[in-house]
Amino acid sequence: MEEFKGRVAVVTGGASGIGLAMAKRFAAEGMHVVIADVEQQALDAAEAELTAGGTEVLATIADVSKPDQVEALARASYARFGAVHVLCNNAGVAAGGFCWEESLEDWQWVLGVNLWGVIHGLRSFIPRMLEQESEGHVVNTASMAGLTSAPLFSLYNVSKHGVVTLSECLHHELAMIGSDIKVSVLCPSWVDTKIADSSRNRPGGPRDEPDLEEPFGAMSQQVRQLLSEGLTSENVADQVLDAIRTGRLYILTHPELNGVIKARAEDIVSGFMTAMDPTSVVRETLTQS
Ligand SMILES: NC(=O)c1ccc[n+]([C@@H]2O[C@H](COP(=O)([O-])OP(=O)(O)OC[C@H]3O[C@@H](n4cnc5c(N)ncnc54)[C@H](O)[C@@H]3O)[C@@H](O)[C@H]2O)c1
Repeated sequence: MEEFKGRVAVVTGGASGIGLAMAKRFAAEGMHVVIADVEQQALDAAEAELTAGGTEVLATIADVSKPDQVEALARASYARFGAVHVLCNNAGVAAGGFCWEESLEDWQWVLGVNLWGVIHGLRSFIPRMLEQESEGHVVNTASMAGLTSAPLFSLYNVSKHGVVTLSECLHHELAMIGSDIKVSVLCPSWVDTKIADSSRNRPGGPRDEPDLEEPFGAMSQQVRQLLSEGLTSENVADQVLDAIRTGRLYILTHPELNGVIKARAEDIVSGFMTAMDPTSVVRETLTQS
């Protein structure tokens, strides 16, 4: 897709971080934007910033884990702008620990937002976008965690692996029906956002006890450090726009980590976890980003 001016982009999790940066990048191209989020204050600030820049904005509360709220978002987007050309299923949260110790509530929360949120987005928007009969683009935010299996991130990894394969299937299926809608799956490593404070959006509020138990606790400090030294959201948004322009499926924002993806693929084919013993993956990811 090369034409952006006057077209419409929808971004979930659009009130902060990567989502807000994408909304601003689309606005800079002259697009109208819809931003959806669960944080009213951040949403108000984002709406004010975008509006001040002269962009037509629809800012609305929508919890992407709830199908009726995503359906309402689609209805509101079409009621306001009559079309959607770029759909970014981006809202996401993170939690970590041993997979057998994570609470059912946390499994449901993380999968609900990160994976079901994308599923709801596709189910509500794709039929409308197909009916519109114009070119379009879907960007699903996964992660490097969707292409690797670092320990202590199982909740997050499972959700993001799901988003990667869902995006690949969507790509194939849209091609099968000859649609003009293209797909990208965004797979960043560390980006300087508030993802480490996802607990602020945990249903029922943040937990009383420390969020991340040992051994994750020690690592979480490193994770925060790496996030703060990571790419800017603006850099990622630039890469997303370029991928939409060029019709690229995979957006790997940290090419220095591509070796980790290749090593996993080689391990799968060989049948043995060798190059990627679990601790070295974490170490490698932590040191290379
Ligand atoms: N920051 C990173 O290093 C990184 C790396 C890879 C992938 N990602 C992914 O990028 C996406 C954006 O995260 P970010 O890093 O900008 O974090 P962020 O916390 O800054 O932004 C996430 C946004 O999603 C919103 N959100 C949370 N739950 C929601 C829900 N149920 N419904 C709607 N909105 C909800 C939050 O309020 C927030 O505005 C996520 O999918 C995340 O998994 C981030």
